[in-house]
Amino acid sequence: MSDNDVVLKSKGLGKSYRMGATKVEVLKGLDLAVRRGEFVAIIGASGSGKSTLLHILGALDKPDKGTVSFEGRDLGRQSGRELNRFRNKMVGFVFQFYHLLDELSVLENVSLPTMASRSILGWFGCRRRAKKRAVELLVQLGLGERIKHKPYQLSGGERQRVAIARALMNKPDLLLADEPTGNLDSVTGNGILDVFEELNKAGQTIVMVTHDDRIAERAGRIITLADGKIRT
Ligand SMILES: Nc1ncnc2c1ncn2[C@@H]1O[C@H](COP(=O)(O)OP(=O)(O)OP(=O)(O)O)[C@@H](O)[C@H]1O
Ligand SMILES: [Mg+2]
Repeated sequence: MSDNDVVLKSKGLGKSYRMGATKVEVLKGLDLAVRRGEFVAIIGASGSGKSTLLHILGALDKPDKGTVSFEGRDLGRQSGRELNRFRNKMVGFVFQFYHLLDELSVLENVSLPTMASRSILGWFGCRRRAKKRAVELLVQLGLGERIKHKPYQLSGGERQRVAIARALMNKPDLLLADEPTGNLDSVTGNGILDVFEELNKAGQTIVMVTHDDRIAERAGRIITLADGKIRT
C-alpha cells in the first residue's frame, strides 16, 4: 500500500477504561490503514471496541497510546481549533440512533453542520448556498418530499438518510458510520447500504462499523476487531 493513497492511519492504538478498581483494556496496540476511496467494514463482537475505535478515528475521543493520522497529519499534535475543523469539515459521522434534533425540520437538521461552522454573519452570507446544498442532498437521498417534516414524522430509514445527508453536508473526505443499520429492519438496512454503495462509487471513503456479517459483505473490505486488535 503506497503511503500516498492512505487517508487514515492508526498505529499502536491503545485505549482502556477504568471502572472503579478495574481497568478494561479495549484497544491493545491496534494498527489500521484506510486508502482514499475505500469502503471498509469493521466487524467484531459486542463490546470488542468498535465504537471506541470509530470515535477515536473521528477525533471524538482520544487514545491513551498510539497515533491516528489523517492525510499524513497526526491528530494528537493538532490544536483544539484544528481538531474542530477536522471534526466539522473532514469527517462526517452517522450513528445507529440518528441523533437528529426533533425541534428542527429535516432541512434545518441537514444544514446544521454548516451553520455550526460559521459565525452568525458568516451564516447569513452562505445560508442560501447551504440550503441549496442541503436540498440537493435530500433529493439525492430520496427525501425531496420530506424537507419540511420533523424527524419524528419520518420512518427509521428516512431518519437515517437525513443523518447521512447531514454527515455529507460539508463534503467530508471520510464518512464514519457506527451501526448505521443497527436500528432498522433488513430491507430498510439494505436501502441504507445502497446509499453507501452509491456514495462510494462516486469516490466517498467510508468506514462503517457493524456486527452484521451480511451488511459487512457489501463493503469492499472487511476487517475484524478481536482482542483489541485487527485480526490478520
Ligand atoms: N465510557 C466508558 N466507560 C467505561 N467502559 C466503557 C466506556 N465506553 C465503553 N466501555 C467499555 O469498553 C468496551 C468496548 O465498548 P464499545 O462500545 O467500543 O464496544 P462495541 O464493539 O462498539 O460494542 P457494540 O457492538 O455493543 O456496540 C465495552 O466493554 C464497554 O463496556
Ligand atoms: Mg458500538
